This record gives sequence, structure tokens and C-alpha cells, in this order.
Amino acid sequence: MAKRALITGVTGQDGSYLAELLLAEGYEVIGLVRRSSTLTIERISHIQDRLTLVSGDLVDEVSLINVLRDCRPSEVYNLAAQSFVQTSWTQPVLTGEVTALGVTRILDAIRIVDPEIRFYQASSSEMFGRVRTVPQDEHTPFYPRSPYGVAKVYGHWITVNYRESYNLHASSGILFNHESPRRGLEFVTRKVTHGAARIKAGLATELRLGNLDAQRDWGYAADYVRAMWAMLQRDTPDDFVIATGETHSVRELCEVAFRAVGLDYEDHVVVDPAFIRPAEVDLLVGDATKAHSVLGWKCEVDFYGLVEMMVAADLDALAR
Ligand code: NAP
Ligand code: GDD
Repeated sequence: MAKRALITGVTGQDGSYLAELLLAEGYEVIGLVRRSSTLTIERISHIQDRLTLVSGDLVDEVSLINVLRDCRPSEVYNLAAQSFVQTSWTQPVLTGEVTALGVTRILDAIRIVDPEIRFYQASSSEMFGRVRTVPQDEHTPFYPRSPYGVAKVYGHWITVNYRESYNLHASSGILFNHESPRRGLEFVTRKVTHGAARIKAGLATELRLGNLDAQRDWGYAADYVRAMWAMLQRDTPDDFVIATGETHSVRELCEVAFRAVGLDYEDHVVVDPAFIRPAEVDLLVGDATKAHSVLGWKCEVDFYGLVEMMVAADLDALAR
């Protein structure tokens, strides 16, 4: 019999890649979508007829209990979140409700309906914030620098706590930044690749950005969802850092993306204080040794391959 998985956040970047992976692995895939006045299924429209979409929201526990009762999944991937760091300063309470307490709601729903369900929590390298060690691994202490980071620390520890309190098969993936042509336009990688493609096409002349010195460990989302799945195939739940092990600055990102369209970023990028954050995470670089050895996971696309893929997809979309 086919395994059945529920994905919260199925309409997001990672949800769409994970749904593709699970379908390829022969799963029945249920996707939780929240009610909105317009459809938000652009990223999954190509597989929509192979998914079952159900209605629910991480702020409404009864909706989660009912979905689990009706669908009876054996695996739950909790990818839903208010995931944009900048917005977490303007909507800190909403961010806490969804990104922090939402995790408790889904864990409680699992405990009530079927404690045998295997659970994946989408934790984040933002939890390391003002980093205590370089590189960061599973033992690095957390020091979050945004309401989003604080909410993710809560989500991580409540996952660990429910594993230890109720013996749930609950794992936390501490994923470093991962990107793709499906990345939201507000995140810096996509903002830069889309911006460079628009300038190349003559649709704009400048791109306004914030801190060009921030450094991130950027990987490819399709590589990272393989790690999520691998965590739930193990007999024992655990926590894993998922990262490429390389770091690059926003400035380098600009250089590579603009070079890919034959332009010099210095002629077009303007630093705008509106995009500077109240508190910054200056440097992230992960050590995924545990995931390599225990999960057999490795990434296949590097930073340069990723940026080139994203620029090419943005040029292609604009041409169409
Ligand atoms: P994303 O593209 O922003 O997707 C977020 C998803 O959450 C969307 O499907 C969104 O639905 C859904 N959502 C938001 N609020 C909800 C609510 N109240 N109830 C139900 N669903 C809700 O994020 P992503 O990049 O795919 O990231 C997936 C997860 O990994 C997130 O938890 C993120 O914080 C975490 N993470 C991401 C990265 C990264 O670099 N991408 C790294 C570490 C951790 P709508 O479509 O309706 O808005
Ligand atoms: N978004 C954005 N826009 N970021 C900018 C800009 C800009 O115009 N200019 C500079 N940056 C810098 C930010 O200050 C930050 O240091 C870096 O670029 C990356 O910003 P984002 O792409 O917005 O990602 P993030 O690192 O804050 O958060 C992402 O990664 C986390 C994992 O570490 C999100 O996907 C989170 O959900 C995820 O948990």
C-alpha cells in the first residue's frame, strides 16, 4: 500500500519540491492549504491533479486535528511558516503564532490523533543568528537575531521536547538558506536574479538592496528536500544540519548574477537603507558532516550552478 504524507506549506518553494519528490517515491501526497481569496497554487499547478489539497491553517488546531483524522497520513512535514525574516519585525505576533505556536498545534494534533505519525520540523540556520562558532553544526548554541529566528528556536525545542516527552518520531532539520527558480521574489537571491534579468531585458535600470556584506550558505531547494525525506526514513528521530559548507556574500551573489547576463552589478545596484534590518545575521556557514555520514545526504548543485540556474529561469520567464 502506498505511504501517505501530509505537507503543510505545500504551496511554498520547499512544499512544491517535496511534493514532487514524494510523488516520485510513490506516496499519496496530501497538501494543507489555507483559505485565501485567490489561488496560491502556482508552484504546484503542474502536479495539482496528483495531489489531494485539504483546507486548514496552523493557527487553527481543530482544522489540523480534522485533517489528520480524515487523511490518516503516516508522515507529516511541517513546512508552513511566516518565513520572511524582514516581515517578522513588522508582524512579530503573527510570526510567533504561525512559526512558533503553529508547531505545537500540529504536534498536539499528532499526539491526539495518531502518535505513530513521523514528523519533520522545518528548522532554520536563522536560529544561529549571531553565530557562536564557525562553521555551525548541531552543537552550536542558538542566538537568534529576529522575531522569526526566535520563533524558529521555539519550534525546534518544542519538537525536541515532544520527542522526549511523548516519544514521538519527531525530527528537526536545521536547514541553511536554500533557493531555486521558485523562490519568492522578496528573498535576496531571487530579487537579484530577477532584477538582473529585468535590467538585461530593458525593463529596469537599477536594483535597490540592503546589506551587501551579509554572508550566507546558499544551496538548492530540490537537494534539501531529499534530506527532509531521509530523516523520516530512519528508525530513530534526530536533528540534522543541512548546508553546503560554503559561504558567499550578497555582493558576490550580485557579481555572479549580473555577470551571467553580461552586466556589471556596480552600474546598477543601489544600497537603500529601507532594506537594512534592525539586527543582522552577518555570517552563516554550516557543517553538514552528520547528515553526510548518517543520512548519506549531499548536495548536487553549488552556489554558481544555483545562481546561473535562477538567472536563466528568470530570463526565460521574461522572454515568454
Ligand atoms: P515559503 O515559500 O515562504 O512557504 C511558506 C508556506 O507556508 C506557504 O505554503 C504558505 O502558504 C504557508 N503558510 C504560511 N502561513 C500559514 C498558515 N498560517 N497556515 C498554513 N500554511 C501557512 O517558505 P519555504 O522557503 O518553502 O520554506 C519552507 C519552510 O522551511 C518554512 O518553515 C521556512 O521557515 C523554513 N526554512 C526555509 C529555508 C529556506 O532557505 N528556504 C531555510 C530554513 C528553514 P501560502 O502559499 O498560502 O502563503
Ligand atoms: N530579502 C532581502 N532583500 N535581503 C537582503 C537585501 C534585500 O534587498 N539586501 C541585502 N539582503 C541580505 C539580508 O539582510 C540578509 O542578510 C541576506 O541578504 C539574506 O536575506 P534573505 O534572502 O531575505 O534570507 P534570510 O537569510 O533572511 O532568511 C532565509 O533563510 C533562512 C535560513 O537561514 C529565509 O528563507 C528564512 O525563512 C530561512 O529560515
